[in-house]
Amino acid sequence: MTESRLKLALVGCGGIAQAHWRGIQNVATRVDVTAVVDTHGPAVTAMAEQTGATGFADLKSALAQGDFDAVDIMLPHDLHEEAALACFDAGKHVLLEKPMAHDLASCERILKAASDVSTVFMIAEQAQYWTDVIRARQLIDEGAIGSVINASGSFHDRVTLNPDAPAPWRFSLARSGGGLSIDGGAHWIRPLRMMMGEIDEVIAVMGHHVPRMEGESWSQALFRFENGTTATFTALNVMTAAAPVEMFRVTGTDGELQITGGRNGELLLFNGEHPRGQVVMSATEGKMNSYGAEIKDFSEVVLDGATMAAPPEFSLGEFRTAKAMYRSVESGRWEKVW
Ligand SMILES: NC(=O)c1ccc[n+]([C@@H]2O[C@H](COP(=O)([O-])OP(=O)(O)OC[C@H]3O[C@@H](n4cnc5c(N)ncnc54)[C@H](O)[C@@H]3O)[C@@H](O)[C@H]2O)c1
Repeated sequence: MTESRLKLALVGCGGIAQAHWRGIQNVATRVDVTAVVDTHGPAVTAMAEQTGATGFADLKSALAQGDFDAVDIMLPHDLHEEAALACFDAGKHVLLEKPMAHDLASCERILKAASDVSTVFMIAEQAQYWTDVIRARQLIDEGAIGSVINASGSFHDRVTLNPDAPAPWRFSLARSGGGLSIDGGAHWIRPLRMMMGEIDEVIAVMGHHVPRMEGESWSQALFRFENGTTATFTALNVMTAAAPVEMFRVTGTDGELQITGGRNGELLLFNGEHPRGQVVMSATEGKMNSYGAEIKDFSEVVLDGATMAAPPEFSLGEFRTAKAMYRSVESGRWEKVW
């Protein structure tokens, strides 16, 4: 593209659209939101007011009448394929929220459609831009903790229940494709892959403690990476209160890296030089800005021909890990990811 700014339509004006909009205002500053789309009237009205964009009640009319070159699709998982394919057909660049879809066949059809057009396709996975995880990988590569042995990732996600309202779409297996592991769990599986390498196989247990949620509301798994290292993975929906969690720990022969959670999260290095631990950096700002960073990356790929941080196929790693966890619960055995 020869333009220096990107006209973007926000498709789906629910929870995550707010984080994307903040990221556009604060970080992805070459993006102009010119259209917003949602079938829920109050949601589209509110987003049109916030952004100053034209509101549309459905994607079809936005594609027919809207003024934009790219879309940011933030819809329930079972609607990703139809929306992405319609946007490819209309010649739009597509940023699609994770997971790519609710089932693998749908992901494959989306990837095929993307390969048949010349517009940009990217999956929005903000963890790819977490600066603490990027720095941790650099420290591992520099040998700061020796040879990596194993790791852990712990994910807690608050769920707010309204017993009088219909169950949210993500509580339906048919709509979401799984429970917490395929959904928010992706943001913990991606960093583990960034720090440790590709996952080869998994063994998992999971359960259901959130009323009306068909998919799992907690899971624990052991991942074995292709390089022979391992990691434990924990995902938990929190309904009331929970103790603070350590987000990640990577253990090596000569030390450890730890990424603490919460508002004041930090990347810490423990090794012979720093036996009591050294604060390498704050983990907070990079996480806060990561939605903006992913949209900025997308805009630079479209506008400048830059190379995206991770191609869309890479996001199949989280997707396939979660699906392998579901197979493992059925079989009671290790299951291959790829
Ligand atoms: N990256 C992250 O941290 C993160 C966090 C939350 C959600 N997500 C992802 O974002 C996507 C949306 O999740 P959410 O939590 O914002 O969901 P949500 O339910 O809050 O919002 C979805 C919106 O889509 C609208 N919608 C439904 N069907 C539509 C249609 N056919 N056309 C237009 N609008 C339609 C709904 O009215 C709703 O406003 C999912 O892929 C989810 O996994 C990512």
